[in-house]
Amino acid sequence: MLEIKIANQAYVTFKSCRSSAIGENKVLLDNKAELTALLTEIRASDLKIAPPKKGSKSSHKPPVTYMHICETDAFSMGVFLLKRGASIPLHDHPGMNGMLKVLYGKVKIMCLDRLEKPPAPGAEAEAVFDPPLSPFQKDALSLCVRRCTGEFTVHSEPCALSPVRDNIHQIDAVDGPAAFLDILAPPYDPAGGRDCHYYRVLQTVARNVDKESDQSRREETWLLEIPQPDGFWCGGETYPGPEVSV
Ligand SMILES: [Fe+2]
Repeated sequence: MLEIKIANQAYVTFKSCRSSAIGENKVLLDNKAELTALLTEIRASDLKIAPPKKGSKSSHKPPVTYMHICETDAFSMGVFLLKRGASIPLHDHPGMNGMLKVLYGKVKIMCLDRLEKPPAPGAEAEAVFDPPLSPFQKDALSLCVRRCTGEFTVHSEPCALSPVRDNIHQIDAVDGPAAFLDILAPPYDPAGGRDCHYYRVLQTVARNVDKESDQSRREETWLLEIPQPDGFWCGGETYPGPEVSV
């Protein structure tokens, strides 16, 4: 019944986080710690999910599928399944928290943060893009700082994101198929301003942010918002595990 405990804890944790103005208060941090502990224990077998058998023919399937488990106004929970070599391209979760726990296989997650201060108007003029951007594309630019890139397996702790930290990420299956349990809080809601956007990395430059010190170099990355990439689509799949409701 771990999956039900996780759903209940996700609700308790995120029920007061229904807007993008989310503070990291102590109650939220304590609840997140409890949710992290529960997610660390979950295994694919708890959800009646198993890795595809070696040699199974799956070329007709989408590269990524999603099993919906449950959704409330506070959070959504489901499982993403990635075929060998599949990737969920760079995308964001505006105003949302997230927790991701690998169920089988291995994933590489590359995270970016939008800079707290948006770039000064015209800052993109300093960057050299090849090919040059059209005026229309300049409106779709954002400047981010590159955060961690890490590999996660079933033995790893969950990977967490918040509205301001690690909110933009790309997830690649490594060395075979992979699956992860995904909690998003609040759920995506295009009508409520929480739609998913996709991005392409245009350029990454190392910048010294403190002229007094050599220690404070960071990687700044220009992103261009793009339509959903051609090679990526996400199909639906029936969740085979125990019913979960809150
Ligand atoms: Fe994501």
